[in-house]
Amino acid sequence: MNDLLPERSGGWQFVENTLIRVLAGYGYEEVRTPILESTELFERSIGAVTDIVEKEMYTFADRNGDRLTLRPEGTAGCVRAAIENGLLRNAALRLWYRGPMFRHERPQKGRYRQFHQLGVEAFGFVGPDIDAELILMSARMLQAVGLTGLRLEINSLGTPEVRARYRAELVSYLSAREASLDEDSRRRLVSNPLRILDSKNPEVQALVADAPRLLDALDETSRAHFQSLCSVLDSAGLSYVVNPCLVRGLDYYTRTVFEWVTTDLGAQGAVCAGGRFDQLVEQLGGTPTPAAGFALGLERLVVLLEERRLLPPPEVPHLYIVHLGEEAARSALVLAETLRDALPGMRALVHCGGGGLKAQFRHADKSGANFALVIGESEMVNNTVTIKDLRGALPQQTIARADLSAFISTRL
Ligand code: HAM
Repeated sequence: MNDLLPERSGGWQFVENTLIRVLAGYGYEEVRTPILESTELFERSIGAVTDIVEKEMYTFADRNGDRLTLRPEGTAGCVRAAIENGLLRNAALRLWYRGPMFRHERPQKGRYRQFHQLGVEAFGFVGPDIDAELILMSARMLQAVGLTGLRLEINSLGTPEVRARYRAELVSYLSAREASLDEDSRRRLVSNPLRILDSKNPEVQALVADAPRLLDALDETSRAHFQSLCSVLDSAGLSYVVNPCLVRGLDYYTRTVFEWVTTDLGAQGAVCAGGRFDQLVEQLGGTPTPAAGFALGLERLVVLLEERRLLPPPEVPHLYIVHLGEEAARSALVLAETLRDALPGMRALVHCGGGGLKAQFRHADKSGANFALVIGESEMVNNTVTIKDLRGALPQQTIARADLSAFISTRL
């Protein structure tokens, strides 16, 4: 779990603000749900035999003995909130959320125990149009923050019935070759065989390459849904790879699943991931409502942008106001307020904490400010301010206070 310190927080703000602007362009509205939910919510939605539920949740009993869990993801809470607050009655709904999620995984680059997602969920759309729009929107989000070179992988998991049939076929294929499976895959053969498809072990991958494919086992409706999605992506000119082994680590998906992946983060390749979950609302007690969504991993996004030096430089103050004497100190604070009134967006630091001019200028220099404003004795008497250009070559000049905001606004 990481502290976010000032030297990096500007980059985070840039990323989050940019993504949120894109969401507004597609009509998504924000929801904020609790970080704690009942443990049962995640067991019922993510699935009892998934890594997340079996091994990774931060779960505890509260003072009443209720079992609670720090949310490992945002979809379950979002669905719960939509059901509980009656949001699904109006059928079509586009929601987004952001915030910390918690998984007790082995930490490594791009994988943390507290991490942050920005996620979206669309409810009430049964057709592939929303799948396509979600994927196009995710592409626009990555492009807006400046991240290029990611690979989009898509797949269809069909319906639960298709999956149950396919599961039996896969188990029989893999059981006949059990000797070539690693320990993890052997365990999964019993608990969650589809997850063997995305094993990282090369030997298992070789075996899986010749296994029956879920895509070939799809029902007609799922196949048409997937084809229609692909044709929209083709028309939009968005490149993608159909990865028949993309299965995702959460059980609630039906039909479309997708991930944006990179090779620049070691094993932690997925920067953005999601898909359709048509049965989850009903499974959690709501009226049957089709749904689809995705979540971006903000740490992974920010790390990639930092490594590629694509984040904007930190914002420095425009002005640092230094002053000499008690009266000037008071005057500096009032002047800064007047300037903030006149020039919204201007960033001014007033020197606080006393000290001589020399020390104050050292602070001004360290702050990165472009200009120092000096209020000394003569400036107080004459109602002026002296302006010193700390970074450029403008000659020092003393101007009337009345002219100050005009002077600054031309140079911001
Ligand atoms: P997920 O694939 O588990 O899906 O997580 C989504 C993204 O969160 C990942 O692609 C990754 O970028 C980031 N992430 C996951 N675990 C970690 C971690 N330990 N450290 C850093 N980043 C991490 C979901 O959570 C689904 N709720 C997405 C979704 C929304 N599907 C439909 N709607």
